Amino acid sequence: MPERLAELGLGVPIFLAPMAGITDLPFRRTVARFGAGLMVSEMVASAEMVTARPSVRARARTDLGLADGGIVTSVQLAGREAQPMAEAARILADMGAPIIDINMGCPAKQVTGGASGSALMRNLDHALTLIDAVVGAATAAGGVAVTLKCRLGWDDACLNAAELASRAEAAGVRMLVVHGRTRQQFYKGQADWAAIAPVCAATGLPVIANGDVTDAGAASAARARSGAAGVMVGRGAQGAPWRLAEIAHVLHGTPAPAVPKGAALAELVADHHADMLSFYGRDLGLRVARKHLGWYADAAGVEPALRKALLTTATEPEARALIATAFGGAPGPSRAEAA
Ligand SMILES: Cc1cc2nc3c(=O)[nH]c(=O)nc-3n(C[C@H](O)[C@H](O)[C@H](O)COP(=O)(O)O)c2cc1C
Repeated sequence: MPERLAELGLGVPIFLAPMAGITDLPFRRTVARFGAGLMVSEMVASAEMVTARPSVRARARTDLGLADGGIVTSVQLAGREAQPMAEAARILADMGAPIIDINMGCPAKQVTGGASGSALMRNLDHALTLIDAVVGAATAAGGVAVTLKCRLGWDDACLNAAELASRAEAAGVRMLVVHGRTRQQFYKGQADWAAIAPVCAATGLPVIANGDVTDAGAASAARARSGAAGVMVGRGAQGAPWRLAEIAHVLHGTPAPAVPKGAALAELVADHHADMLSFYGRDLGLRVARKHLGWYADAAGVEPALRKALLTTATEPEARALIATAFGGAPGPSRAEAA
C-alpha cells in the first residue's frame, strides 16, 4: 500500500482533512511548518469554479510559498453534475493541482440539499458519472490523480462505502478516505473505525480512516481497527497545527515536532494571524481569525476575559499585543513591519 501512496507523491500517511472555512491557505501554511503527509484544500464548488470567481479560485491555491518539504496539497471539488465537475477539474489541473479529490462526504444541508457531497452516496450510478467525468478530464489534462472522500453511507440502511470503493477503483480513482460515520449521523457519537474494515477489504485502493483521530493513540487504534493505510485528521489540528507531525512521530518515527510554547507560540499565532489578514484583507481576515484564535486560546488555557478581548480585537497591532500577552511571549515585528 505504501507503494500506491508513493505513486501519488505521498509519504507518511497522516493527512490533513479538508475543512471549509478552516483549511485555507494560511492554515495549511501553518500546518506545513511542522509537516503533513498530504493537505487537502477547502472544498470548491464546481459550478463556482467554472464561473471563475476569484475568491473560489483562491480557495484552490496550492502554492504554500514556503519551504514546505514537498508537502502535496490536493484540491477538493464538490458538485452534483458531471459536466461542470469535468470542466472544474480541467481548470484545477491548469492551475497546477497535483491531486483532485471528489467530495462525497459533506453532510451539510446546503450541500446535500443540492444533491452533492454525501447525498451522492444515495445514488451510486449517478455518483459514478461524476467520477468518470472527473477522472476523464484529469487524465486528459496531463494525468492528474483523482481521489475520493466519502462516509460509511447515507444512513444505517444504506452502508455502501465498500461498493463505492470497488466501483471507484474500477473507474480510476487512486485513493479513498472514509469518515467512519453515516451522513445521518452528521458529527454525532463516535466515528466507527471498525466499520471501515469492510471497505478496505473490498478494494485494492489505499484507504485512509477519518473521524475523531485527535492524537497518536486514536490514530493507532483507528488504523488497527480499520486496517486502513493511514489516517486523516481534521478537528484535532484546530489550534494545534503540529498535531499531524506529533502523530507521525509516534506512528512512523519521523522527527518529533518542536511544539511551540511561550514566545514561540505567540510568534506562531501572530504569524498565522498576519497571514490571514494579508490573504483575506483586514476586515474579513479579522473575522476569519477569530475561530483560530479561540482554538489556540482554549488549547493554551487563556483566561476568559483575555480570550474575549483577543477574539474581538479590531486591528493587527492590537491583536499582536494581545497575542503576546495571552500566549506568554513577545512576537517580533509583523511581516509588513519587517519588510
Ligand atoms: C467545519 C468543518 C468543515 C468541513 N468541510 C469539509 C469539506 O469541505 N470537505 C470534506 O470532505 N469534509 C469536510 N469536513 C469533514 C472533515 O473533513 C472530516 O471528515 C470530519 O471533520 C471528521 O474528521 P475529524 O473528526 O478528524 O474532524 C468538514 C468538517 C468540519 C468540522
